[in-house]
Amino acid sequence: MSNLVIVGAQWGDEGKGKITDYLAQKADYVVRYSGGDNAGHTVEVDDVKYKLHLVPSGILFSDKKCIIGNGVALNPMSLLKEIEYLNGLGVEVKNLQISDRAHIIFPYHIEIDKLKEEERGDKKIGTTIKGIGPCYVDKAERSGLRLCDFKYIESFIEKLTKNIKKKNKLIESYYNATPLDVEKTLKDSIEALEKLEKYIVSTSSVIRVLKDAIKANKKIVFEGAQATLLDIDFGTYPFVTSSHPGAAGICIGTGLSPYDLDAAMGVVKAYTTRVGMGPFPTELFDKTGDFIREQGFEYGTTTGRPRRCGWLDIVMLNYSIDVNGISSIALTKLDTLSDIEKIKICTAYEVDGNEVKLFPSSLEELKECKPVFIEMDGWSLKEIEKASTYEELPENAKKYVKKIEELTGVNCDIVSVGPQRQQTFMRKEMLK
Ligand code: GDP
Ligand code: IMO
Ligand code: MG
Repeated sequence: MSNLVIVGAQWGDEGKGKITDYLAQKADYVVRYSGGDNAGHTVEVDDVKYKLHLVPSGILFSDKKCIIGNGVALNPMSLLKEIEYLNGLGVEVKNLQISDRAHIIFPYHIEIDKLKEEERGDKKIGTTIKGIGPCYVDKAERSGLRLCDFKYIESFIEKLTKNIKKKNKLIESYYNATPLDVEKTLKDSIEALEKLEKYIVSTSSVIRVLKDAIKANKKIVFEGAQATLLDIDFGTYPFVTSSHPGAAGICIGTGLSPYDLDAAMGVVKAYTTRVGMGPFPTELFDKTGDFIREQGFEYGTTTGRPRRCGWLDIVMLNYSIDVNGISSIALTKLDTLSDIEKIKICTAYEVDGNEVKLFPSSLEELKECKPVFIEMDGWSLKEIEKASTYEELPENAKKYVKKIEELTGVNCDIVSVGPQRQQTFMRKEMLK
């Protein structure tokens, strides 16, 4: 297997960063293909906590080539900040290439994201206010600006000025808010893009590089951001992001063909979390939910918001497995479920006395879904902390893993019991 897709199987924050970093040890390329700096991927190595938003997690290895694909919505100022932050931690950002068809997030996207959320009031999506939605809106509406446009500075300035003025009209007259300073917005954007120019390469060359890498049996890890249930088509619309975080997003977000991809590994948290609003059938509103939040330190990497916590949902997971063609699971945060006497797994929903095993499309139907649970016996943190191999895990933890495999028909080939690289049990060699 030459390339592997790492995809979030739930509502994000499953530990994609950690798993990508782990697998990157064997990879030649690490590629981000969708989303933007709404992502927050934490990687812990030797007690240093790296928080990545746009830069692929492979950057922590000096010899890995990192690519930001054309499907990414790129905020130049945010990327510069991240590069400085990494430099400050002693990480050199030299092996980075950015595909030039990527759309640019400008300050007006962020402002409009904020204003739209305020307007939605109690129906807000709970976005990260990074301008993601408004940037993809402009992309679909065909008024967005791409990195490749920056090469032609005069027409770039002309188009950007027009966009700022248009958005200012919306900001002022519809939202009754303060317009952006046109000159400052132009200046800041141009300055940031100039500093990034050395990383920008044509999308055709990215495709060529990746195709050649595949031909030469080089190893590629595609680092998913967000997750399947946040996908604009397959997620809990409208409580989703505006991109395609799933495996299918790789083709759109890099230029590779579906026939180039070898396999997808779904990163699955041993329970479920969600940050932001929207349906969550197995959500816990009790002490157990609070316990999981504290033990798992479930606070957003990007926004610091407390994450909503609940039991593992197999109906949703099986849907995610279908959508992405997941043939392997990386099960993370098994340690977080320690010291809970009885752990529940949702195996079906009940709607009007009927059993539902297929994930519903509408919010109305999801609201009706009552989770049907099975119960598993728990284990202690002390026991799990002692384990240095999968075999040494407490019996009940292994039973929990086995149950997930039974209910999904997919093997948990990686099991993670802590944030550090070495707290990862690889049960089957990936990227051979
Ligand atoms: P991502 O967005 O999918 O990359 O996930 P985040 O980084 O936003 O959130 C996952 C959090 O869990 C991070 O703080 C990781 O360091 C941490 N983490 C990952 N795997 C494990 C694990 O197995 N156990 C524990 N306790 N923490 C983990
Ligand atoms: P990673 O890659 C968790 C959620 C937001 C909100 C919705 C839309 O770290 O797993 P957006 O700003 O994208 O328009 O917000 O999507 N969201 C995430 N939740 N992890 C993420 O990324 C997320 N990226 C976006 O909270 O509910
Ligand atoms: Mg995250």
